[in-house]
Amino acid sequence: MRQNQDQMSSLLSALSGHRPERLPVWFMRQAGRSLPEYRAIREGTTILEACLMPELAAEITLQPVRRHKVDAAIFFSDIMTPLVLAGVEVEIHSGVGPVIDKPVRTAADVDRIVRHSLIETSAITEAVRIVTAELGDATPLIGFAGAPFTLAAYLVEGRGSRDHLAARAMMHADPQAWHRLLEWAADLSGQFLDVQVAAGARVVQLFDSWAGALTRADYVEYVAPHSARVLAAVEGKVPRIHFGTGTRHLLPDMAACGVEAMGIDYRTPLDEAADLLPGLPLQGNIDPALLAAGWPALAAHARDVVDRGRAAPAHVVNLGHGVPPTTDPGVLTDLVALLHEL
Ligand code: CP3
Repeated sequence: MRQNQDQMSSLLSALSGHRPERLPVWFMRQAGRSLPEYRAIREGTTILEACLMPELAAEITLQPVRRHKVDAAIFFSDIMTPLVLAGVEVEIHSGVGPVIDKPVRTAADVDRIVRHSLIETSAITEAVRIVTAELGDATPLIGFAGAPFTLAAYLVEGRGSRDHLAARAMMHADPQAWHRLLEWAADLSGQFLDVQVAAGARVVQLFDSWAGALTRADYVEYVAPHSARVLAAVEGKVPRIHFGTGTRHLLPDMAACGVEAMGIDYRTPLDEAADLLPGLPLQGNIDPALLAAGWPALAAHARDVVDRGRAAPAHVVNLGHGVPPTTDPGVLTDLVALLHEL
């Protein structure tokens, strides 16, 4: 039994509640602008174009695995990809994020957008197949999708925002339209996850990056059922991780959406998260700011995160949000090596 656990990928072992000999580690946004090889290969294509070019998306997915020796690949795509595949007009502007020219503000807007459905997913299937063939059994590929609230935050607002006022107003002004919009977004994200899993992804992560802006009552009534719908799409197929930022007040409700592990942002120490989520493997939560704070500070912080992580039944080491684009990639490589020795 012990031997089987050790032969299994350390990530899959931790997600099934065990403590493998080496701590599994991967980084949100490990592929991307911090890597010179990414900047070189992406030149001349927009990010959303790159997401639909299978050879390119596969190569970008593999770059950080080769360089940093992380224990998982995360599929190179974006939470906006299923919207693109459904024919919704969306762009990603550098330094800004997703931009939607015609934001969804009224019930009529919702009625129009819900007519879009996923049509052609073969680019995703092909990219995942290339990646998983290259990775073999040792290193799993993590598939992902955006949670309905985070998608709606962009669709209703038209772009990223601090308070998500327009989206939060809509859920109260027209709950019926809101639920129609989120149910539609949930189906797109659920299908996006399912396509990745069918093609070989062995773990999924649902990103509800902006859920922390919600009160607990609003989360439970207007958002959680839809996130549960996404996660149900791959229930029993692969382990599911759920992540958001600023979500300390929501952690038990996010876990109740149906997960095998919870991602914790850098604001909540893992021992405190473990008290809120008894029995659940935790993922996180090195503060991305520490990547630029010098090695002694980073190493001490990483050790503290690992110590606090012992309060959970199992721990997948990650950052508490994505890799900042200005990060020195050498620091990430050194961090992986340190974590593997602990
Ligand atoms: O390595 C990985 O983590 C996999 C790839 C990945 C991307 N986006 C590629 C990407 C993942 C998992 C995402 C998810 C994503 N996209 C989220 C959830 C995670 C989070 O960070 O909270 C969100 C909110 C988005 C929407 C989005 N796309 C934003 C806010 C941005 C940044 C815009 C900017 O320039 O600052 C993007 C663009 C994007 N998606 C980049 C990458 C590598 C950077 C742009 C580029 O390389 O041109």
